[in-house]
Amino acid sequence: MKVLVTGGAGYIGSVTTLELINQGYEVVVFDDLSFGHEQAIAKQAKFIKGDLLDRASIRSALSNERIDAVVHFAGFIAVGESVKEPLKYVQNNIIGGFNLIDSMRELKIGKIIFSSSAAVYGNPERVPIEEDDKKDPTNPYGETKLIFEKFLAWSNAAYGMRSVSLRYFNASGADIQNGLGEDHDPETHLIPLILKVALAQREKIEIFGTDYDTPDGTCIRDYVHIKDLAAAHVLALKHLLEVGATSFYNVGSSKGYSVKEVIDMSRKITGRDIKVVSSPRREGDPASLVASSEKIQRELGFKFKHSGLENIIKTAWEWHSKHPDGYK
Ligand code: UFG
Repeated sequence: MKVLVTGGAGYIGSVTTLELINQGYEVVVFDDLSFGHEQAIAKQAKFIKGDLLDRASIRSALSNERIDAVVHFAGFIAVGESVKEPLKYVQNNIIGGFNLIDSMRELKIGKIIFSSSAAVYGNPERVPIEEDDKKDPTNPYGETKLIFEKFLAWSNAAYGMRSVSLRYFNASGADIQNGLGEDHDPETHLIPLILKVALAQREKIEIFGTDYDTPDGTCIRDYVHIKDLAAAHVLALKHLLEVGATSFYNVGSSKGYSVKEVIDMSRKITGRDIKVVSSPRREGDPASLVASSEKIQRELGFKFKHSGLENIIKTAWEWHSKHPDGYK
């Protein structure tokens, strides 16, 4: 069984690639390295450097490698940036994704796992959020994920292309055994930014908004360990290969932590002083996003093994301490 992983040099893609290989899949990584890191690509995977915006290159990779199924990570991910530059997100997340699935359609490759996001829900009407709850993204990033999910469903109806969309909540932590961690440039995510303050690479962490309607006034997010996320992809792929239907699953830990709680836990684990300043709200940020993960546990047998804020920050701290300059 040969799987093409787009974005396999990225944070979630690299850990999932390794998990797929460990589970016996043959993997081809397709990545343009604009954000990913060549060092993060599993040695056992074949690597093709290519851009989804170049339709001929993804089509020939799928065809030459005789791919059976695709796991699609490649895309832009920064919520704040998407508000400022929405069309960049259309280009990468929609047009790039279109080139992929239209090539799959032509080549009759009928199975795809898609990296979706909690951002499809926008400001939820209730937490924990269930998969059928209202979807009303508060930023263009989430909008691109929702549109793509919908076209995957339409593609199932029209072409029989089956998909599983995994709506990640906040991917975090590191795969210490395999030396894989979070290294974005620029970094916008909370936990790595806090740890850069602990490493004295940054002076302070800004809290974006302290006047939200939450117990301590800061945003609440659901942090899920990267290794649990990777395992969810393998389960989703098995489900599709066993003729599972097109479906949508939250992947979170079912527990929310505020920005202040994440900072406090980071102080405890690093033993370092972490300077904090209050800043205005970041545009596009919902107050609280926490997943109900019951559906994926019930239907795919998903289990949390690594999630829990303490283990997430411990593993992230170990990785950042060992790789203060990331993969460089
Ligand atoms: N935050 C700060 N200061 C910072 C950075 C972040 O206060 O310097 C806050 C944000 O405002 C937010 C929380 O910390 O409330 C988490 O922010 P991240 O940028 O780490 O993550 P997001 O929740 O914005 O986004 C992440 C993924 C998205 C995904 C989303 C779903 O990047 O792809 O989780 O919850 F859609």
